[in-house]
Amino acid sequence: MTNKKDSDLMEKIVSLAKRRGFIYQGSEIYGGLAGTWDYGPLGVALKNNIKNLWWKKFVTDREDMYGVDTAILMNARVWQASGHTSGFADPKVTCKKCKKTFRTDDVGDLIANSGLDKGEAWVLRNCPECNSKDWDNEQQFNIMFKTSIGAIEDESSISYLRPETAQGMFVNFKNIIDSFHPKLPFGLAQIGKAFRNEIAPRDFLFRAREFEQMEIEYFIHESDREKQFKYWHGEMKSWMKEIGLDAAKVHELEVPAEDLAHYSKRTIDFEFDFPFGKKELYGLAYRTDFDLKNHTSASTVDLSYFDEEAGERFVPHVIEPTFGLDRTVLALLVDAYREDELGSEGDEKVEKRVFLKLSPTIAPVRVAVFPLLKNKPALVEKAREVFTMLKKEIPGAVVFDDNGNIGKRYRRQDEIGTPHCITIDFDTLENDTVTVRDRDTGKQERVAIKELSKSVS
Ligand code: GAP
Repeated sequence: MTNKKDSDLMEKIVSLAKRRGFIYQGSEIYGGLAGTWDYGPLGVALKNNIKNLWWKKFVTDREDMYGVDTAILMNARVWQASGHTSGFADPKVTCKKCKKTFRTDDVGDLIANSGLDKGEAWVLRNCPECNSKDWDNEQQFNIMFKTSIGAIEDESSISYLRPETAQGMFVNFKNIIDSFHPKLPFGLAQIGKAFRNEIAPRDFLFRAREFEQMEIEYFIHESDREKQFKYWHGEMKSWMKEIGLDAAKVHELEVPAEDLAHYSKRTIDFEFDFPFGKKELYGLAYRTDFDLKNHTSASTVDLSYFDEEAGERFVPHVIEPTFGLDRTVLALLVDAYREDELGSEGDEKVEKRVFLKLSPTIAPVRVAVFPLLKNKPALVEKAREVFTMLKKEIPGAVVFDDNGNIGKRYRRQDEIGTPHCITIDFDTLENDTVTVRDRDTGKQERVAIKELSKSVS
């Protein structure tokens, strides 16, 4: 159960995200489409910063990783071989009175140690819609999005939008071996959209029907499984630290055997303290040789690996670190959201403000440049000069803003998490120094323009 404070926080975040151009409801002018979200200019900047950092850390900074971007539509046989056609389902129950359908785990409590299979051991609560307790029998609902390929719709034209990016990597395993002859262990990495026809999309970006994943399939010899699992566990923790997530809000769950996905022999979920509860942020799975073996037998293409040094041919096993991109965005927004009171310097009056304490490498805008007054050409010209210089010299986005009074401009930048605001005032014209304001403290200091890039990078 979430309390009022937590649901207020979610409301504030959703409203800030819309007001400031981070995230809008999908198809909003038509009343929306549940489980879809559109990223506005600041949302896409935030998301791109996360993707670029991830790609740098896990692909370009390494010698054992191959980045790919595979098709969302795949041959339906892929999903038969991967087990998704038969096994990628969530349990659902329908209320007989109001006819609303729910995911069983949203309206029921799991009975621990019942000895029954997954999906059967639930005690259902009252219907959240009409309070009745008259439930229909539970059913399994396959959450893959079905579509039809080509001009004739029949059984043979059925395909699916991928529910995970992973399979695009497994089916390209041989291509990568043939093109690059990598030595084991090595990995494939991909960032891309995934689709799931969630029974009950909810909690903003948390459970969407269209979302993005950042995934790695790391191919190993079976004997290395424990060492590699431990290594990737460490890498995932180091990633969360790098993007500035509060480690105290991240928890680990060793997924019990009866709850493991059909392909996994061991999974650790990294859970985050979202305002609506402690929920899965990322996962680390030991997928064994399940996927390569199944694709080998279904496609009849040999997906084994020959280790020349050991003179051994075998099907590699896989460690899979998976990162939901939209859940990363949500966790960062939740973690960064702050309210405090701040007074202008030399001013008795304190004002309430909202700011996002995002790490500078993630923040959609790195620096904002202001001329103190919009109607003084000398100030505007100098501010433009500083703006152009910073755009060339510092990583990350720099914006120019001359709209409204300075206080309003600071508040606007605080709300989107801009770490530094630079103001060009009359002293600048005299001595080539500017004020640099720190987002978190609101404190300003004077910095020489020639030192500026160093001071805000
Ligand atoms: N390839 C493995 C895989 O797809 P998963 O746990 O089903 O594993 C991986 O999904 C990650 O994708 C999750 O940890 C989560 O971050 C994200 N994710 C899954 N379903 C989602 C949804 N409906 N909306 C947003 N993100 C989702």
